[in-house]
Amino acid sequence: MLTPIRWVDDHLELLDQRHLPEKEVWNRYDRHQDVSRAITQMVVRGAPAIGVTAGYAMALAAQNAQVDADEKTVRGNIPGWAQAQMNHLLEAAKELESSRPTAANLMWAVRRQLQVASEHLEAEDPDIAARLMEEAIVIHQEDIDHNRRLGRHGAIILEDGDRVLTYCNAGALATGGYGTALGVVRGAIEAGLNIEVFAPETRPYLQGARLTAWELIQDGIPVTLLVDGAAADLMQRGEVDAVVVGADCIAANGDVANKIGTYALALAAREHRIPFYVAAPTSTVDLTIPNGTAIPIEERDAEEITHFRGQRIAPEMARALNYAFDVTPASLVSAILTERGIIEPPSRRALKDLLTER
Ligand code: MRU
Repeated sequence: MLTPIRWVDDHLELLDQRHLPEKEVWNRYDRHQDVSRAITQMVVRGAPAIGVTAGYAMALAAQNAQVDADEKTVRGNIPGWAQAQMNHLLEAAKELESSRPTAANLMWAVRRQLQVASEHLEAEDPDIAARLMEEAIVIHQEDIDHNRRLGRHGAIILEDGDRVLTYCNAGALATGGYGTALGVVRGAIEAGLNIEVFAPETRPYLQGARLTAWELIQDGIPVTLLVDGAAADLMQRGEVDAVVVGADCIAANGDVANKIGTYALALAAREHRIPFYVAAPTSTVDLTIPNGTAIPIEERDAEEITHFRGQRIAPEMARALNYAFDVTPASLVSAILTERGIIEPPSRRALKDLLTER
């Protein structure tokens, strides 16, 4: 199964998604600082994939912290050593969390690793790097498992012959593997349904054209590309049966942050009475964020809009606004599909119950 992230011996490797679909290039990472930069630069992208990557980055930070702490503190001074380790990990966490601020899975994975670190340091476990390494692998495996589980809802919400409009790339490349929105498509197909996918190109980074098309073609799943502006027209023509997208962050009331343009798709889907589904693992839900207005929205470099592949396409003086995500209100979402079940319609109460039930 396609995964954009792998741990090899003592280091991390990421499939450099900036080169897809032309080339498959794997980069090696030994330091969390370089992983943080790779996340910002979109070597790896998609909230769950960023979360999995951050889990490994924290393990790298612990590996390097162990060396630092051994060098800097008096051997045998366990409390001093543990404090030095923890300080180093807190620094790494801060750096990683700011690399893509909208991705809830990033904060979730970093905090999970900090929790593991603090428990083991309290117990004076000397091999904290090994513990974080084991946890990173668990986070990765869990993500794949959760995507497969939420993907099974595909057979419930979709029908044979459905034409599904997705957005950006919420596939194997955006996760530990299998995908969220594309996991739902895969789940439906594995259950025997015939499904075809419409993929808007997703300006400015072209995740739809470059990545969604690439991974669906690899799996033999029929996919048709659209320019972003064509989606509403296609709905008006009656050629879309369902919209299924992923999420970067889901607030406590069910508002959803996803790739800029998702809100417009939800509005168009409502106008044409087409169901609009959000597929995401529960690690994307942040109950500490009360609603969509409180979700931090990343603003990226204007050059992603004024330039194309290093070539200027807008006049020198043109200003550009590059919010990477927008917020779709819960009222426009037909259902949220998670590994723990379907929330239909999304509500604060239902989300809280789903996240707190054991
Ligand atoms: O800027 P990106 O490519 O990281 O944006 C990705 C998305 O918007 C995805 O839809 C979202 O992260 C969910 S991926 C399973």
